Parts: sequence; structure tokens; C-alpha cells
Amino acid sequence: MPDTAPRPRVRLRDVTLADADMLDAWDEDRSPYNDFGMPRDPIDRDAIARGPLRNERNGMMVIERIEDARPIGTVGWHLERYGPNRESGAYNLGIELVPEYRGQGYGSEAQAQLAAYLFATTDVNRVEAATDLDNIAEQRSLEKAGFRREGVLRGSQWRAGAYHDLVYYALLRTDPRA
Ligand SMILES: CC(C)(COP(=O)(O)OP(=O)(O)OC[C@H]1O[C@@H](n2cnc3c(N)ncnc32)[C@H](O)[C@@H]1OP(=O)(O)O)[C@@H](O)C(=O)NCCC(=O)NCCS
Repeated sequence: MPDTAPRPRVRLRDVTLADADMLDAWDEDRSPYNDFGMPRDPIDRDAIARGPLRNERNGMMVIERIEDARPIGTVGWHLERYGPNRESGAYNLGIELVPEYRGQGYGSEAQAQLAAYLFATTDVNRVEAATDLDNIAEQRSLEKAGFRREGVLRGSQWRAGAYHDLVYYALLRTDPRA
């Protein structure tokens, strides 16, 4: 049988020290959906030098376009707990693409890959993402990545001088993958 699966166009890779200046520059220009008005600290170069920016609590990777090895954005994740036991942990992910690389499907691929990576390397049952109710691109991107829409947390996020409704999406280990 010929393999008809579409070839991946992006991959996720660990952050290196060579990325540090680029990531600081990107941070100056982050999208309003990821801008909480907090001080912009330079990325922790000592932490990068010590090893990959990922552990059981959180992580960050660079999204790289495969055809030219160009870094086009970042994904990150952190552990959320829905109960005091280890089994009730879930990973909540976030993403930011450089503006010129948005709207080409890279975001859906990257988020599907991150979910697959977290299911493969941990025993977590749930990977989730929350986004502003107005952020249609991220909602559609998550749906294309196989995430299911679950509900709205009204007035849950303070950003840009107002409270915003967040819509939650999740992929369970047992859900069909995109
Ligand atoms: C959100 C983001 C990750 C999505 O990744 P992306 O590669 O741009 O998105 P994709 O190309 O995979 O999919 C976007 C989809 O939303 C659709 N879309 C985009 N804007 C839309 C709008 N205003 N109304 C309706 N649909 C819209 C696109 O048509 C596309 O759907 P389609 O493929 O069915 O046509 C990326 O745009 C980004 O980094 N945005 C800024 C940061 C951000 O918002 N991060 C999430 C914060 S929670």
C-alpha cells in the first residue's frame, strides 16, 4: 500500500543557546493574545545551557519549518492539576507563530505534534489548550489538530485592560488523532 499520509512540514526541536537572541526579539513582538502586560525578561540562557527547556512541569520548543530549517515560532506547555494525585495532571499548551508564518496550517501541525509528543513521552491522559473566544484562528487550528471544544470559562483571563472569556479545547489519549 502506498503511504498517502501528508508529509509533516514542521518539526519541534529543543531550544538552543543559538536561539536566545531570536526568542528575545520575538518576545518583543508577541501577539495580543499572548501579551499579559508583564515585564519582558530575557530568556534564561543559563537554563538553556543546563539542558533542554522541558521537565515534568513545563517545557518549550521551537517550531522549525522542515524545508529550510527556519524557526517559525514556539510551543510551550505546563502542568495543570485537576486533583491532588499524579494521575489528575494534564498538560496545557500554548503557541505563537511569527506573523508571516500564520494562516498556512503550520499551527495545526505543531499543536498536533506537541500533543503526540506529550502522549508518547508521559502518561498524561489529557492535553488541553485555552484561547480567547475571539481567537478564531487558534480555535480552528486546534480543531484541525484533533482537539475537541469543551466549553467557555467566562471572564477568566485579564488582558489588555479587560476580562476575557476563554474557550477550552482538549485531546484525550483515547481520542482519535488528526
Ligand atoms: C493561532 C495560531 C497558532 C494558528 O496557527 P496558524 O498556522 O496560523 O493556523 P492554521 O493555518 O493552522 O489554521 C487557521 C484556521 O483558522 C482560520 N481562520 C483564521 N482567522 C479566521 C477568522 N478571523 N475567521 C474564521 N476563520 C479564521 C483559517 O482560515 C484556518 O482555517 P482553514 O485551514 O480551515 O482555512 C497562529 O495564527 C498564531 O500564532 N497566532 C498568534 C498567537 C496566538 O493567537 N496564539 C494562541 C494564543 S491562545
